[in-house]
Amino acid sequence: MSNEAGKPVSGSSIEVTHLVLPPDTNALGTIFGGRIMEWADLAASIVAMRHTRQACVTASMDALHFIAPIHLGDIVVLKAAINYTHTTSLEIGVRVESENPKTGIRSHAASAYLTFVAIDAQGKPIPVPAIIAESEAEKRRLLEAQMRRQDRLTHRQGIQAARQQS
Ligand SMILES: CC(C)(COP(=O)(O)OP(=O)(O)OC[C@H]1O[C@@H](n2cnc3c(N)ncnc32)[C@H](O)[C@@H]1OP(=O)(O)O)[C@@H](O)C(=O)NCCC(=O)NCCS
Repeated sequence: MSNEAGKPVSGSSIEVTHLVLPPDTNALGTIFGGRIMEWADLAASIVAMRHTRQACVTASMDALHFIAPIHLGDIVVLKAAINYTHTTSLEIGVRVESENPKTGIRSHAASAYLTFVAIDAQGKPIPVPAIIAESEAEKRRLLEAQMRRQDRLTHRQGIQAARQQS
């Protein structure tokens, strides 16, 4: 398939599994929020590089929500996939699930949206291939990501306008 037509979301989606060990936890025996951020950033960067086959940097991480604690000894599964691409940037959604190793029961523990930008050797943003959203879930995520991008731009423009007036 030509890159001009776009690449399917499924071509770069990944699932990464970790085991929560003592260095990953705080005094309460639950995982550090920062470790989840690190694992989410790493998973999303792999997705970004696989989709673009270019160097990509993290521009932002937003809507990071910790929904339930993850405990020492739990298995952590991160599912990462591209939601949306624009000219040089792409939004990647990461869903984090904790799995009880004894029961196999999984619960939704956290979610985040990360924006990556593809760059050339000089660090200048370069165009990224579009995505082809195939499943209903992918199409829904694409629409929601477009709304989030619009919200980010409106927010940024509002701040700039307020600064110019002050
Ligand atoms: C991300 C970066 C390359 C953007 O460069 P820039 O010259 O500011 O780029 P522009 O203003 O031309 O914007 C380029 C794209 O980035 C997006 N972007 C820039 N800042 C962003 C932010 N804070 N959040 C989300 N998207 C952002 C723009 O929307 C634009 O997307 P589009 O081309 O798809 O429309 C640059 O800010 C950078 O190098 N940041 C440091 C990255 C880094 O070190 N990350 C941590 C380690 S990987």
